[in-house]
Amino acid sequence: MIDQVQEIKDRCDIVEVISSYLTMKKAGANFKAVCPFHNEKSPSLMISPERQSFKCFGCSEGGDVITFVQKIEGVDFYNALKLLADRAGIELKSQTVKVGDAEHKADSKTRVFEINEWAKKVYQKLLLDHPKAEKAREYLRSRGMSEETIKCFEIGYAPDSWDFMLRYLQSKGFTAEEAVASGVAIKSERGKIFDRFRGRIMFPINNIMGNTIAFTSRVLENSPNEAKYINSAESAIYIKGKTIYGLDKAKLAIKEAGQVVMVEGNMDVIACHQAGFRNTVAVSGTALTLDQLKILTRYAGQIVFCFDADNAGQTAMKRAVRLALQSDISTKTISMPKPFKDPDEVIKKDPSLWTSAVVASKPSLEYWIDNLLTKSVPLDVTAKKQIAREILPEIKIIYSDIEKEHYINYLAGKLRVSEKSLLDALSKSKADNEFNVKKEEQVQELENLPILERIFGLIWAEPALISKIDEDFAGLEFDPKFLPLVSAIKEKQLDKEKIKPDISNFYDQITMALLKTVNPEAENALLIELEYLLLRLKSEKKENLKETFARRIKEAEQTGDKNAVKKLLLEFSDLIK
Ligand code: UTP
Ligand code: MN
Repeated sequence: MIDQVQEIKDRCDIVEVISSYLTMKKAGANFKAVCPFHNEKSPSLMISPERQSFKCFGCSEGGDVITFVQKIEGVDFYNALKLLADRAGIELKSQTVKVGDAEHKADSKTRVFEINEWAKKVYQKLLLDHPKAEKAREYLRSRGMSEETIKCFEIGYAPDSWDFMLRYLQSKGFTAEEAVASGVAIKSERGKIFDRFRGRIMFPINNIMGNTIAFTSRVLENSPNEAKYINSAESAIYIKGKTIYGLDKAKLAIKEAGQVVMVEGNMDVIACHQAGFRNTVAVSGTALTLDQLKILTRYAGQIVFCFDADNAGQTAMKRAVRLALQSDISTKTISMPKPFKDPDEVIKKDPSLWTSAVVASKPSLEYWIDNLLTKSVPLDVTAKKQIAREILPEIKIIYSDIEKEHYINYLAGKLRVSEKSLLDALSKSKADNEFNVKKEEQVQELENLPILERIFGLIWAEPALISKIDEDFAGLEFDPKFLPLVSAIKEKQLDKEKIKPDISNFYDQITMALLKTVNPEAENALLIELEYLLLRLKSEKKENLKETFARRIKEAEQTGDKNAVKKLLLEFSDLIK
């Protein structure tokens, strides 16, 4: 069996595998990439083709091709091996693998992968040849989908039956409970188990390597009694908020174009690919999440959104733009050519319309502002106030100061008011904004808590971590409510009993929000999160320092004091060593 591990490693070149997840640059005999395991902007992940290994100098993560897949897909050794074997077309011959003293076994995740693979194959076969799938074939033809596209996206058909898939999986040795755990079957409250997908077109949802992890499905005829699209339930291998539809097929084109286009529907993705716009992806069965945005930044310098021209599309736009602004991820947004509803319709009419629309995309908040302006004719004082009221809270959450200033400038120009009056309104908009945060957005907002406060939240969740903090808090800004925690960190011990109830309630809230963003299954998850946050805090401090020095140097230059400039430059280069 060890031989098979070696065989898989030999057949799966680490550079090739990692390049399917990350954009790499040549660095001498090695390659480098921005590390996906901690937050950074410049690459510190080194990949050595010679040693077939990777190592990050920022977070010290490292290992071989199997370790990499384990980390990035969140699976154990056996499943990483299986994913790589599938990719290389090798059949894993055994359910256990022994390496040294450690034995790695197939587990429930392996079974979930297998079920999804079998289901995909049988749904696809049905669509291609079964007489009962004639209506489904006809439907796809009517939507202009070519045979080649159907095969490329491995589209299938689930017959109108309560137990077709269940019986099929049982014939392959899986239990009904396993079918439920994999998301393709449902268990009713009374305990009856049946197929989730009945009489539907099936679209496999894949992970980045191309293994099928779930399905999304469409009815053949729209009806008010049935949801148009239904997705698999989440499972051990399918987390909706971390999955991007079409990314496995789009990733190369995204890297080539340096740009990814994110649309709303899976049908839009397919229409775009068929027309040659292969750098297109979509979210599926969820609103856009920060995790998904972060994954996209690994592939493309530029993210371009396109939202449907309906109310739902506008809501999705606002949410996505807000998320990107808060996280310092710059995005553009496409204006849907009129009178079309979505990219699929545009491309059906004329692919060149789509090309022009992509080229004409604007920075997302400019799109938002312009969109409001076209609806506000005439632009009287009431309209101006209304636009400012909607946009200022968005400007407020922008992470980058430069971007903030850009938008104040832009908005002032468009509304024909002074920047000063907008800045005044911006400082007043604070209370309003805090009140207006909607419930579902609160968690998202907390996800973007200042780093220092997230560190405090982690300590509250796991006081033992206090020993890992060796930080000087002098000069750092934080809510005074955290003072009791800061003293606890200084004393290296936390006695929760001594903290006043209203303060500890406040800490509890932060901790709860924080824990939602940390994967609780990962071993040492909290420690890893803490180490990552401490790293970010360090780099943030450095950035602040740079800004302070830049300001002081500019001041010295303005007064013409050359000696002072020199001194400051020296001091600065010493400090950032
Ligand atoms: P749309 O209703 O805009 O559908 O939903 P569409 O993509 O244009 O699909 P077609 O062209 O009618 O086939 C956009 C996306 O919202 C999600 C799906 O991911 C869909 O692709 N959605 C929509 C659901 O999850 N459930 C639904 O019932 C409807
Ligand atoms: Mn559509």
